[in-house]
Amino acid sequence: MSNYNIAIDGPAGAGKSTIARALAEQLKFVYIDTGAMYRSIGLYAAEHGAEVTDRQSVIALLPEIHLELRFESGTQHIFVNERDVSGAIRTEDASRWASAVSVIPEVRSFLLEFQRSFAKKNNILMDGRDIGTVVLPDADLKIFLTASAEARAARRFAEQRAKGEDVTYKAVLDAMQQRDLQDSTRAAAPLKAAEDAILVDTTSMDLQQSVAHIRSIIWEKLHV
Ligand code: DC
Repeated sequence: MSNYNIAIDGPAGAGKSTIARALAEQLKFVYIDTGAMYRSIGLYAAEHGAEVTDRQSVIALLPEIHLELRFESGTQHIFVNERDVSGAIRTEDASRWASAVSVIPEVRSFLLEFQRSFAKKNNILMDGRDIGTVVLPDADLKIFLTASAEARAARRFAEQRAKGEDVTYKAVLDAMQQRDLQDSTRAAAPLKAAEDAILVDTTSMDLQQSVAHIRSIIWEKLHV
């Protein structure tokens, strides 16, 4: 039996990772978070004195970056040169660095084979921005997950407040719109739905409803 590849793309805050993680658990598939890879490169660059917007200085660091994913009870941990950066990549700074380095074509091609290597060997759900369009154009199923910018910002705001971060809704919305713009207007693999992707708008769905809805699409299309 060949393995199943499911691609989930969409803008920041649409719920991709939470939804993909829940579905992977139900399906017993491996969940691959490609955003974590861009975050890891952004973090490494920022920590090693590179200006993340300076293409040449980021590219110069790539040969010394060794990425590895390890799975601990189904949870992805990402290692850069043997250091587990899974926590360190989740800050607002790391989000901006990730978005900045993700516009660099050499960074994208650096990650491409690494991303594809997981799809060959496993049943996976992979989330990102260009999974259905570039990384896995032959995926068995492609979902493009969206929600209004306001709904996405409200969710992100609630998460950050719950973590005790001192943020305003307005600042979260501004940062999200800034990142949407950068991710969708960059020349290399911009955020856009694949032609054969199924669009799912979660603006008026909660997490459980979103998971159930996509679970039913997977069943309908793949019978798994
Ligand atoms: O999904 P995320 O917020 O962790 O992604 C961080 C950044 O990485 C985001 O600004 C866009 C970029 N990214 C990308 O360009 N392509 C991907 N497949 C995944 C993420």
